[in-house]
Amino acid sequence: MSQIHAKSPQHCANKNHLKITKKKLFYTILSSILLIILIFWLILHPTNPQFSLKQVDINQLIVSPTHLLNSSIQLTLLSTNPNPRVGIYYDEMQVYASYKAQQITLHSYLAPFYQDHKGTDLLSAVLVANDLPVASSFNYDLGRDQMAGRLVLNVKANGLLRWKVGLWVSGKYRFSVSCVAVLVFGTSGPAGPLSSRQGTQCSTTI
Ligand SMILES: *[C@@H]1O[C@H](CO)[C@@H](O)[C@H](O)[C@H]1NC(C)=O
Repeated sequence: MSQIHAKSPQHCANKNHLKITKKKLFYTILSSILLIILIFWLILHPTNPQFSLKQVDINQLIVSPTHLLNSSIQLTLLSTNPNPRVGIYYDEMQVYASYKAQQITLHSYLAPFYQDHKGTDLLSAVLVANDLPVASSFNYDLGRDQMAGRLVLNVKANGLLRWKVGLWVSGKYRFSVSCVAVLVFGTSGPAGPLSSRQGTQCSTTI
């Protein structure tokens, strides 16, 4: 190809040729970098972090006759990084609780943290709401669950994480966690505190 160009009497043909070579070089380098990243990614392919609910205590769940809810829920989440060669930066994470598809607490923000390879961390949060408007069926649903002796609570978390492989740190990925806890009403009567101690496994999506 260069021979053909060399025969060309035009001065600008050489320039063009140089341009093409530069472009080719640029694309070759770019595609090799992408290939290396892809190979790294395929070898390491990080597994989603895992979460489980260690404990949930509902300290308050009261609805006013005007359907305004006051709630206070304390929980402990166990966070696990299953990857042997990938660290995780949790840059942002917020937790809230919902009941019968209604959000019943405000979002509680957790402090950012780094989780090492195969690391585990216990995260505690207190979720609260004051005068939060809820559906008029809320009290009826709660009353029915109290009669049945158990209540199903959803704990949800979402945030942003970055993977760390050696010295390389990825961009930010949005993740969300969903946990289902079955709480059994205590012996202190239907109005008593509700708690759950079984380690409920949560699902994580990225
Ligand atoms: C909820 O909390 C607010 C503010 O603390 C209080 O005024 C209200 O009476 C509470 N509602 C119920 C149902 O306890």
